[in-house]
Amino acid sequence: MKNLSIDSIIRVNHAGEYGAMRIYEGQKAVLKNTPTAPLLQHMLDQEKQHFDRFDQTMKDRRIRPTLLSPLWHVAGFALGAGSALLGKRAAMACTVAVESVIDEHYNAQLESLENKPDEAPLRTLIEDCQREELEHKDLGLKEEAEKMVGYKPFTAAVKAASRFAIFLSERI
Ligand SMILES: [Fe+2]
Ligand SMILES: [Fe+2]
Repeated sequence: MKNLSIDSIIRVNHAGEYGAMRIYEGQKAVLKNTPTAPLLQHMLDQEKQHFDRFDQTMKDRRIRPTLLSPLWHVAGFALGAGSALLGKRAAMACTVAVESVIDEHYNAQLESLENKPDEAPLRTLIEDCQREELEHKDLGLKEEAEKMVGYKPFTAAVKAASRFAIFLSERI
C-alpha cells in the first residue's frame, strides 16, 4: 500500500479533478453539436463540483497545488479533444479508462485513511467523488465504449498515461 501524506493525497486529487474537467471540456469542444453533448456536460458539471470541493479543502489546509497544473490544463484538454476526434465511442472509452484508474486510486487512498478518524470528512469527500466516477464509467460502457475499434490498446494507453499523471502529481 502506498504511504502518502495527507497533503499529497489532496494535491493529487485536486490535480486529477482539474484534469477530468479539462478532458470533458476537450470532448465537448469536439462533440458540441452531437447528441452526446448533454452527457458530457453532465459529467463535466460533476467534475467541477469534485474540483471545487478539493479546491476548498486545499485552501482550508493551506496546501499548495501541484506545480504541474499548466501541464494538466493542456494535457487534459488534448486527451479529451483527441479522443473525441476519434469518435464518440473513443471519447467514452477514454472515460472508462480514466475512471477505472481513478477508482483504484481512490480505493488505495481510502485504505490509507482507514485508521485516521480525524480524516473522516476527507474520506467522505473521496467516497462521494468515487461514487460519481463509477457512474461515469458505467455511462461510458452504456454508450458503447467497448465497441470502439482498438478499444484494448487505446484504453491501455490512456490508463498508463493516467497512472503516470497520478505518479507525477503526487510528487511535484
Ligand atoms: Fe471527479
Ligand atoms: Fe469522472
